[in-house]
Amino acid sequence: MSILYATIIFVKKHLSKFAIRYVTVLLVILFIILTVLAYSGYYYYNLLAAEMIRIRSDLASTTAEFQTKISDLQSNLAGAKSESATLSQALRAAEEKSGAFEKQIGAISNTVGTLEKLSQTDKELLQKYSRVYFLNEHYVPSNLIPIDAKYLYDPSKPLELHARVWPYLEKLLTAAAAERVTLQIASAYRSFGTQATLKSSYTVIYGAGSANQFSADQGYSEHQLGTTVDLTIRGTVPFTNFEKTAGYDWLTANAYKYGFVLSYPKGNTYYQFEPWHWRFVGLALAAKLQSDQTYFYDLNQRDVDKYLVTIFD
Ligand code: DAL
Ligand code: ZN
Repeated sequence: MSILYATIIFVKKHLSKFAIRYVTVLLVILFIILTVLAYSGYYYYNLLAAEMIRIRSDLASTTAEFQTKISDLQSNLAGAKSESATLSQALRAAEEKSGAFEKQIGAISNTVGTLEKLSQTDKELLQKYSRVYFLNEHYVPSNLIPIDAKYLYDPSKPLELHARVWPYLEKLLTAAAAERVTLQIASAYRSFGTQATLKSSYTVIYGAGSANQFSADQGYSEHQLGTTVDLTIRGTVPFTNFEKTAGYDWLTANAYKYGFVLSYPKGNTYYQFEPWHWRFVGLALAAKLQSDQTYFYDLNQRDVDKYLVTIFD
């Protein structure tokens, strides 16, 4: 109050009446302006507050709407995920089924292939002859070919062999020659008639008892198959001490690699030891006999038959 009073005193003392009036008018105008400003401020404050409330309420309802939408989307997503899992499962099951089906088809076509191959393979080729199984006088191998004279012990006496066995024998002879073992063929395919003549002459010369030790009766010789050969080594008389030659050693170690096996080893129950007599039985069976150190006639016919389909593989 004292400051106001001092101010009034100062104004009265130093200002003229006109100035006082002028200042008063100014003050009134200032007051009016301030009042208008205050009122406008208050008015706009209320307006803004109302707007804020509206925005907040809008926001709240929008947020709620969004939340509903999000939860809808989440449940849709969960549904889609479970549907996709179900579909994947169904797809896997279908794939498994189709895989199994393919396997079945593969197995069937394999079986058909095997049966077809088997139907085209001469079942006599792996039969156990030698007094067990008989080939009649009409049996002649399906395809005989003449052997090149350069491989023969006696080039003046032509010999024949099963056409499908020849490539294996030729490889065997070439491999042996590459190791300086020159093998020659002393006997190969023999017909029923040839075997009959041979056996008769042996019987006449040596007597039936002896001849039966080294010569099969007609119809029982592996030579009638066209897959069997008697081998000798160049420069020696066939069948004489063949077991003591490098030829026999080489054959014992290597013939199986070309599908050939020794039919009549020492101590066999059919004939005397025939180190020169080698029969083609196919690579797989020959390898099995070699690794098991057993002989063709030690096996059952049923076990031997399993190798027929692959005899020329
Ligand atoms: N030397 C054999 C056993 C044969 O005649 O077939
Ligand atoms: Zn023989």
